[in-house]
Parts: sequence; C-alpha cells; structure tokens
Amino acid sequence: MTSIAILGGTGALGGALALRLAKAGHRVLIGSRDAAKAQAFAETLHAAHPSAQVRGFDLKAAAAEGEICVLTVPYAAHPDTLAQVRQHVAGKIVVDATVPLRPPKVGTVQLPPAGAAAVEAQAALGPEARVVSALQNIGAEKLAAGQAVDGDVLVASDDNEAAATVCALLAEIGLRAWHVGPLANSAAAEAMTSVLIQINRRYKRVQAGLRITGKAKEAEAGAGSPGVSVTPLRGLPLLQPGDNLAGLIEAAITAAGLAPEDGDVVVVAQKAVSKVEGRAVRLDEVAVTERGRALAAESEKPAPLAELIAGEAAEVMRVKPGLIVTRHRTGMVAANAGIDASNLADPAGPEMALLWPENPDASAAALRRALEDRFGVRLAVIVSDSLGRAWRMGTAGTAIGTSGMRPVRDRRGETDLFGRVLQATVVAVGDEIAAAASLVIGEAAEGIPAALVRGAVYEPCEETGSADLIRPLDQDLFR
Ligand SMILES: NC(=O)c1ccc[n+]([C@@H]2O[C@H](COP(=O)([O-])OP(=O)(O)OC[C@H]3O[C@@H](n4cnc5c(N)ncnc54)[C@H](OP(=O)(O)O)[C@@H]3O)[C@@H](O)[C@H]2O)c1
Repeated sequence: MTSIAILGGTGALGGALALRLAKAGHRVLIGSRDAAKAQAFAETLHAAHPSAQVRGFDLKAAAAEGEICVLTVPYAAHPDTLAQVRQHVAGKIVVDATVPLRPPKVGTVQLPPAGAAAVEAQAALGPEARVVSALQNIGAEKLAAGQAVDGDVLVASDDNEAAATVCALLAEIGLRAWHVGPLANSAAAEAMTSVLIQINRRYKRVQAGLRITGKAKEAEAGAGSPGVSVTPLRGLPLLQPGDNLAGLIEAAITAAGLAPEDGDVVVVAQKAVSKVEGRAVRLDEVAVTERGRALAAESEKPAPLAELIAGEAAEVMRVKPGLIVTRHRTGMVAANAGIDASNLADPAGPEMALLWPENPDASAAALRRALEDRFGVRLAVIVSDSLGRAWRMGTAGTAIGTSGMRPVRDRRGETDLFGRVLQATVVAVGDEIAAAASLVIGEAAEGIPAALVRGAVYEPCEETGSADLIRPLDQDLFR
C-alpha cells in the first residue's frame, strides 16, 4: 500500500483516480486549496466505498504526507500549485497529468515555450522532484465509470525507475501504460489531447482515446523467446462456489507486483476453477446405478465415486483394482475421469469428489475476458491438471482448457540450425506451458492455484481450444 496524494483530487480526473487507487488498496490523500472541501469530498468517496482509505487535506499537507503525488489541476492553476508544494516533494515521484489547454481554443495544440507542461513542472519543482508525465489522454469519465478503459497511457520521464513505478501503479488500476522516453516527450501526449478533442467534436465520439498497436516481438512465432518466467500467484483464499476467481487472480497479480503484458499466459489449476464453478459433489448424495455398481466391483472403488467416473467418461478404457483409465467426455485421457478427492472440504465433513469444469475451454475463455478487460492486454489462459502419461511414470501439468492461443504449435516447414526443413515437429505448447506453471502451482498444501507465465512463444488464436491437443481416435495406433 502506498500513500498517494492527489493535488486537485476534488476535480474530475483527480476524483476518478482517487477512487480507483483507493479500490486498489492504496491510501489516498485528497489535496485541495480548501482543506474542508477536500475532507468533505473524501467522506463522499468513503461513504460510497467504506473500505476505501481516503482523507482530505490542503495542498501542502497532502503533498507532505504522500509518498507519491499526482497533479490534476487546470493548467491555469499549475504554476501556483507547483509553487505551493515544491518544498514537500523533494525526492518524491510527482505524476503530472496537466494538459496546457488555453480555453476557449482547447482543440488547438498550444504548448508552452518550455515545450511541455511537465517540463515546466520539473523546472518549478527543482531537480530533486522525480517528475513523470502521464494520463493526459485518459478521459476522467472513463476512469470514473470503473470499467475497463479502452485507451493507453503515455508515460514520459527522465527518471526510468520512477516511470516504471508509475507504469506499474497504472496497471494496478487497469491502465496500460507505455514509457515513451524523456520528459520532453510529454509534449506529444499533451498535444494529443487537443487532437482527441477535435476527433470527439468532428466524429461525435465520447472520450476518444489512444491505443498503441503492434505485437510484442517475442510473441511472434519463430522469433524465439528471450526466456520464460513463471511467477506463482499467491494469497488466494480457500475457494468457495460462486467466488469471483478472475477478481481474486487480478488481486494476486497486482500483489505480486506484476503488470501483465501482451502475450502473458495465466495458468490456473483445474481444482480452483472446479471449486468456484460448484463442481464438488457429496458422495452420499450420488444415486448409484447398475453401471456404477459394476465399475465399483471391478475397480474396488466406492460405488458413488465409480458412478461419477462413469458419468464423466466418454469411454472406460482400462480398469484394475484401484485404477480406472478413461477417455473423459472432453476427449482427454485421464485416470478416474479427472475426478479428485484431495484438498476438498474439511476431513470431518461429508466425503466429496471434485469433477472437472463442465467446459474447461469456456472456463478459460471467461477468465481471459475478465483479465483482459481488467488489464487492457492480450492474454491466453490455460486450465491445467496434473495427468499421468502413457508409458511414463509420474504426472505432469497438462492443459485441459485453453483460450486465446493455439495450444499446438506446428513447426513443420520451419528450418533447423542446419537449414533442414522440420518434417514432423508439432509442439504441444499448451501442455508445455501448463507443465512449466505446475512447477510452482501447489498440488497439496502449497495453496497456489495459479501462475503467470511470460515469454512463452505461442500463436495467439481466438478460435481453437484444448481439443487441438487430442489425437483423433482414427490415428490411434495401439487399439
Ligand atoms: N478531465 C479529464 O478528462 C482530463 C483528462 C486528462 C488530463 N486532464 C488534465 O488534468 C487536470 C485536471 O483536469 P480536471 O478536468 O480534473 O479539472 P477540474 O475538475 O476543473 O479541476 C481539478 C481541481 O483543480 C483545483 N483547482 C486549483 N486551482 C484551480 C483553479 N484556478 N480553477 C479551477 N480549479 C482549480 C480544484 O480543486 P480545489 O477547488 O479542491 O482546489 C479542482 O477540483 C487538467 O490539467 C487537465 O488538462 C483532465
């Protein structure tokens, strides 16, 4: 949690920012020319969101108390506000959102003689202030709406570390930010606001914004990976049916200090998805049929469990005492149709079994949509389970649901180091990513249900899902 002073926090942009930052768990200090006005405003925010930590101060007190200060005052008030807070911001990051608009000609670019308002701010605050320019192209109404913002933020600063801190902070409140170079480059963002105002007027748009297009180099098939990182997402509570898994994962990503990037993959354990989707079944409530009784007799498993397995299986492939190998209704081959009885409710409670999600690809897609909306980047999501592999010992993380990626990477036609054309190389990249993530995802007591994987090379794709990973039955050489 960081203490963030918003100087001009009673206004349109400052107020919207205050709310988002408070909701993200930060302590917000509203700074105003009038302390009583700031306090009253803080109380309104607090009344609407009782968990928000917001208080009101005069400008100097807010700047003195804040670890980071954000400046959101009209350009006319810029010099006076800077002069008031100068002595309180030495060594601190000061985010300047000011656009040097000169009413009434706000649709015309009119940059100041120094080149940019943010450059003027640096001059006024002195070299010890770490001025970062940001947010000029994000409409306050969009931020206030609390939803995903369809616009990017250009961040300019001479202090790379300060710029990175601000980009991470913006990611926490759902904004995708780009560090676009030195503070002087703030001129481009400041000028762009008048351009966007023109677009709004001429094309009758509301709060036009800016989007940076293109894709990350490492995500291009064949470009190779700069290296893969796998970060565990910790701190999720014990999950219950109906929990907002996307919201909890968002919070865990933020708590891990991560700002998701285009191409990142979120891998989430099937157990977590199944729990929130209410796929736990009480064994004493299962109606056992003749089919379940027969499978129970052959496998020596409890009849209700055998019944569930039979229900989830498209085909029971092999049975021996203690083991049932099935082809799950999704087509995946899995022991016991993927049904699990570990890590469920308390041992004193009724015996439970946990089934795979109804449609693991749909679960992955829903999670991806929510996370993409929240972070404004293109992601892939994999629902993974630890499965045994034919003729190999041990289990490995396997993709049972995918979204946003082609889970099989066909490298046939590419050339190897010696220029030979690859003839038969089809890589199960979905399974590889799931396996990498399973190195940190907890199986038993660790309680880490998800991980963020960065740097994996895969082909983004909207259409396909985990079925691509299943070898068609007519290609089965063993039966
Ligand atoms: N609105 C947007 O969508 C948006 C988007 C991007 C950037 N910006 C930039 O962010 C800054 C703030 O914009 P805003 O729309 O939030 O402004 P605003 O609502 O008009 O004003 C923000 C606050 O500035 C304070 N202020 C200080 N001196 C002032 C003066 N002489 N006249 C009026 N208010 C004064 C007021 O707070 P107290 O009365 O409490 O002191 C006011 O609540 C501007 O530089 C703007 O260009 C705005």
